[in-house]
Amino acid sequence: MSQKIQTLSGYFHEYQKSIHQPEQFWSRIANSFHWKKPWDKVLSWDFKGPDIKWFENAKLNLTENIFERHLFTHSEKTAIIWEPNDPNEAERKISYRELFELTCQFSNALEAEGVQKGDRVIIYMPMIPEAAIAMLACARIGAVHSVVFAGFSSNALADRIEDCKAKMVLTSDGNFRGAKDIEVKAVVDQALESTNCVEKVIVCKRTETPVDMKAGRDLWWHEVIEGKATSHTAAILDAEDLLFILYTSGSTGKPKGVVHTTAGYMVYTHYSFTNVFQYEQNDVYWCTADVGWITGHSYIVYGPLLAGATTVMFEGVPTYPNPGRFWEIVDKYKVNQFYTAPTAIRALQAYGLEPLEGYSLDSLKVIGSVGEPINEEAWHWYHDHIGKGKCPLVDTWWQTETGGIMISPLAGITPNKPAHASLPLPGVQPIIVDTDGNELKGNNVEGNLCIKYPWPSMLRTTYGDHKRCKETYFSTYPGLYFTGDGAKRDHDGYLRILGRVDDVINVSGHRMGTAEVENAINEHPKVIESAVVGYPHDIKGQGIYAYVICDMEGRTEEGLIEEIKDTVRKIIGPIAKPDEVQIVPGLPKTRSGKIMRRILRKVASNDISNLGDTSTLLNPEVVDQIIEGAKH
Ligand code: WT7
Repeated sequence: MSQKIQTLSGYFHEYQKSIHQPEQFWSRIANSFHWKKPWDKVLSWDFKGPDIKWFENAKLNLTENIFERHLFTHSEKTAIIWEPNDPNEAERKISYRELFELTCQFSNALEAEGVQKGDRVIIYMPMIPEAAIAMLACARIGAVHSVVFAGFSSNALADRIEDCKAKMVLTSDGNFRGAKDIEVKAVVDQALESTNCVEKVIVCKRTETPVDMKAGRDLWWHEVIEGKATSHTAAILDAEDLLFILYTSGSTGKPKGVVHTTAGYMVYTHYSFTNVFQYEQNDVYWCTADVGWITGHSYIVYGPLLAGATTVMFEGVPTYPNPGRFWEIVDKYKVNQFYTAPTAIRALQAYGLEPLEGYSLDSLKVIGSVGEPINEEAWHWYHDHIGKGKCPLVDTWWQTETGGIMISPLAGITPNKPAHASLPLPGVQPIIVDTDGNELKGNNVEGNLCIKYPWPSMLRTTYGDHKRCKETYFSTYPGLYFTGDGAKRDHDGYLRILGRVDDVINVSGHRMGTAEVENAINEHPKVIESAVVGYPHDIKGQGIYAYVICDMEGRTEEGLIEEIKDTVRKIIGPIAKPDEVQIVPGLPKTRSGKIMRRILRKVASNDISNLGDTSTLLNPEVVDQIIEGAKH
């Protein structure tokens, strides 16, 4: 396919075309896919609604563009290399033909169990090939998948099941992660106690953990596929039919279901994958994310498979059984492109260079970073010791809502600049605005990052609540999509992402809403009020710091702090557990009753030299008490 940019001047040329003639640009890219019916119009849009349609009235099936389109050319090529958690267990290599057959077979099973086009299917599974097969089978029959990260609690899972009114849940008995054997099916059982839309549960055997199978509801994966045909006629879908919903945290309320649709997402994930990573046909590509996050959707499953790539799927964690595990896998499969998160880099960096001994890492051509700003120290360590100074490092900025990589170097083409996501991909029009929404043109400017023109894989709505989508993304600066991130354009015109400017914190590359954590803390019967902020954390990027006002009667401070952490773990999941809980006598409030988070953030960051004016507070005395009791 001639969609791959080869040179820097080629990039600038494509970029200009994509801005001046976006419709021609994207129709040229989209032409190389297999369509059942071509589109009437490439794009119609209005950011006020928002109302966005790409490839209007076109008909297609995404999985035909993974399978049927390629089967004659590379049916025996490995599609997925699956590496288990335990290095002593055998790996699995699944060819495109096998993956096609497994997808078809499971598609037939889903249909036999009553799943129809448009139905929502929750996928709550560990990192095993069946998770990818489940996603592909949903796409094949036109069901809408919603993958929920298997580390979320039953309560968080129930919220998501209920919000999208899922008809089915796909899960497993258990999950091997590091030294742990985590229950999975039991979490689903608990979630289903408080919901009533789910009709059936399909359970894939992974750990042989004993599970309760509820008669009439629960089915084994290996049984439902038994005797099912390994061919399946793909459903013909509309370009704007829903492909999936993925829940993500925001600055207010419960997580919202970001909606992605079929054609635009397909075109953009393929295009961005090919160009950012400069994937070549015999390369082995590995993204270490989990399919529970957007990175896993776009750059383990959809983008690579659409490009006919060999994609590695790893069940385990970076440090099990030892901190050389990633490098062992790179050498084992001769990985050419390696894509991970800064938090993993920092965690491994902390072990020094010893875990790298004995591994050559010679196969690597491109290394990538995603999920949070990468600090310069981690950037250099990654570049020098993993990329051996010879691999371009792509620092890819994007979001669940953007569906695909938006701002990133193209490997080997865009000059690298540490900690800079650098330049937008063709078709992406980022701008920096001040707090009033005025565009800050030129170089050496800093402000809030917005996107002023649609791109094919942008979110279309938030499931079941279009108003929320409008308010969250399209109302702060009318006419613009607001990312929630701050950014700087440096003297060379390169973009550097500065992190969230809203009440969202980024913990180990996972997005958490402070309000969501507060709501969980407030569930504890002894809690009167709480305020949660982020603070710089050496490994996680940001840690979670909670200030809590409690009724202490009958409790010790230590005991209560543990109970509060445990409450959050139960209500959301281990990833949301506060790193620090400080019991406070009060929270600093303005005269209108608003919590002064600025002060709380400074105290949590141990940066109290300049707290600003606190005299206008309703209760200035509490600031000193908070400083005194601070956890640093
Ligand atoms: C937020 C989106 C997109 C995949 C994983 C996270 C932050 C993401 C970068 C980067 C600086 C980054 C932003 C963004 N972020 N990539 N390369 N440099 N920040 O997806 O959970 O939707 O979070 O992650 O703050 O808004 P997500």
